[in-house]
Amino acid sequence: MADLYQVPPERLLVTRGSDEGIDLLVRAFCRAGLDGVLIAPPCFGMYAVSARVQNAPLVELPLDDHGGRFSLDLTAVEDVLAHGDVRVVFLCSPSNPTGQALSLKEIRRLVKAASGKAVVVVDEAYVEFSSIGSARPLLDEFPHLVLLRTLSKAHALAGARIGAVLADPDVIGVLRSLSAPYPVPAPSASLALEALTEAAQREAKGRIATAVKERDALVKALRSIDGVVHVYPSEGNFLLVRFADANAAFSRLLAAGVVVRDVRTLPQLGDALRISVGTPEENQAIITALAERDLPEGRTS
Ligand SMILES: Cc1ncc(COP(=O)(O)O)c(C=O)c1O
Repeated sequence: MADLYQVPPERLLVTRGSDEGIDLLVRAFCRAGLDGVLIAPPCFGMYAVSARVQNAPLVELPLDDHGGRFSLDLTAVEDVLAHGDVRVVFLCSPSNPTGQALSLKEIRRLVKAASGKAVVVVDEAYVEFSSIGSARPLLDEFPHLVLLRTLSKAHALAGARIGAVLADPDVIGVLRSLSAPYPVPAPSASLALEALTEAAQREAKGRIATAVKERDALVKALRSIDGVVHVYPSEGNFLLVRFADANAAFSRLLAAGVVVRDVRTLPQLGDALRISVGTPEENQAIITALAERDLPEGRTS
């Protein structure tokens, strides 16, 4: 895994999915009731879950939704870092569920602002699908930068529960001291090693290339369907889509055997579904299900 992520082994901790990495980081850096966790909703739910379990105050800076994209107010993050008691900042890039990614320049700016105050965690669960690439080049420069990677997405191994924390060796040492004894079961380790053979990596690269191509085709097709209000640009293997009637869209997809992620309970996403990019056949099934009878009227974009 160190080879895969291009770090020396002392900069890597194998975890039970990146979920365990998130939990270890909050437990390592946040004293209960005192040290805060900064998140930018709508975002992956485990950051808040781990913060609550640790009783770490949660500071939420909502993403701005304008111009058809979600963006993070970097100045607001800098202000929180300067005045608050935040010890862990979670950035998700590409973001689940918005699909948007931060540039290296943006990450560098926030990591600099956090120097001496907090660790900045860039969750790169979907980075293999992104044209922007990993923040790995910044890792050697900043000991308070942490990256999360996983075999669950691009390597299609979610059930094996194998992820990795990439960080300064001292940070890795602290996280290791907090983790459970013998955390990775041997069958999971075997599956991970199989996923890392040259042949399996070639296959994964092929799947990623297909997903990216299919994603772009699916964006176009969805934008032509009545009742689809907005399709957000995506650097991940899923699309965030607003519907005039998300309930009708969800039911129609379900009836066609397509299960999508209902994100309507997340802030700012009351009319949205998150649709994973599938094979060409699966994507056609999505389009057919949504287009076959007109969805309730909506603005297309
Ligand atoms: C952004 C993000 N981070 C982390 C995870 C957790 O992945 P795992 O624990 O399977 O590595 C997910 C899973 O959906 C995710 O979307």
